[in-house]
Amino acid sequence: METSEITILQPKAGADFVETPFVKGIQGRALHYLNAGFPVHFRGISGTGKTTSALRVAELLERPVIMIHGDEQLTTDELVGAQTGYHVSKLRDNFIASVLKVEEDSSKRWVDNRLTVAVENGYTLIYDEFTRSRPEANNILLSVLQEGILDLPGGGRNDGESCIKVHPNFRAIFTSNPEEYAGVHRSQDALRDRMVTLDLEPFDEETECAITARRSGLSREVALKIVKIVRYLREHGQYEFAPTIRGCIMIAKTVQDYGKGVCLGADHSLFKQICLDVLCSETSRIGSKTTSAKVKEVVERAIHQFGLNGKKPKRDP
Ligand SMILES: Nc1ncnc2c1ncn2[C@@H]1O[C@H](COP(=O)(O)OP(=O)(O)OP(=O)(O)O)[C@@H](O)[C@H]1O
Ligand SMILES: [Mg+2]
Repeated sequence: METSEITILQPKAGADFVETPFVKGIQGRALHYLNAGFPVHFRGISGTGKTTSALRVAELLERPVIMIHGDEQLTTDELVGAQTGYHVSKLRDNFIASVLKVEEDSSKRWVDNRLTVAVENGYTLIYDEFTRSRPEANNILLSVLQEGILDLPGGGRNDGESCIKVHPNFRAIFTSNPEEYAGVHRSQDALRDRMVTLDLEPFDEETECAITARRSGLSREVALKIVKIVRYLREHGQYEFAPTIRGCIMIAKTVQDYGKGVCLGADHSLFKQICLDVLCSETSRIGSKTTSAKVKEVVERAIHQFGLNGKKPKRDP
């Protein structure tokens, strides 16, 4: 059986992977459902650690991993496989050496694709941002998750198989962003009904601080100042998109690059500029001046309170 180029992953958490009780809690819940045979779906806004959690949980399942990224252009053929092209064979006539016969074998050849390989071999499938694919392309998953059967489209493979029994070790982990995000389709009720959805919230302060420190090399003390500012904005600000852990990491890496004096010294103008650049850009898609002005006001208030003296900011008027 021919397969197209498929990358099989063996995920391994790096030294900068952080495992707090918050992170372990999510992994533990997911693993329980997966071990009981149910697909798991991590759903949440951007930066809640969905893709990272999916990879880590897949690592803990200790099976090879196949990853698919949801995409508007993705077709069922790209998920499952298809009859592709024509096999052209060349025959050299042994008796009359000067004649080269080219024989076209009109039978198409089946090429397996990622879902088929995962289902057949009992691998773990991570389907990241699956609602970015069109619902029609994902319909094929219904029978996989419900009946444990993968129907092969277009008459099946060359060996006459029109369906494959799902391997007992096959597991599936899905991730998705909320439906209001650009380019996200509504997830089909039938599909959602066949998986256990875990709604991920932004990380707790301890986790956010640990990730920010580990990913930037800053001390916990400095990382905490940055995290408090971002969390304050998340709680009090008016924005198009909530600021995420990515904002914390970007500010922290830039501060680390300049030297932590930027954050701890008496003059906070550069630190303020870095926070505003990163957070205004992260929280607005269209660069709205009104959003920027509101974000700026809340960030300045938070910096003044947390950045200079680490005290809790005053409540909103
Ligand atoms: N446990 C962790 N340890 C270290 N870094 C982490 C951890 N979890 C998440 N991160 C980092 O936080 C950032 C956001 O995580 P991730 O990409 O998994 O979020 P997401 O929910 O998939 O976001 P999106 O919806 O935008 O795809 C990434 O930079 C990731 O490397
Ligand atoms: Mg992701």
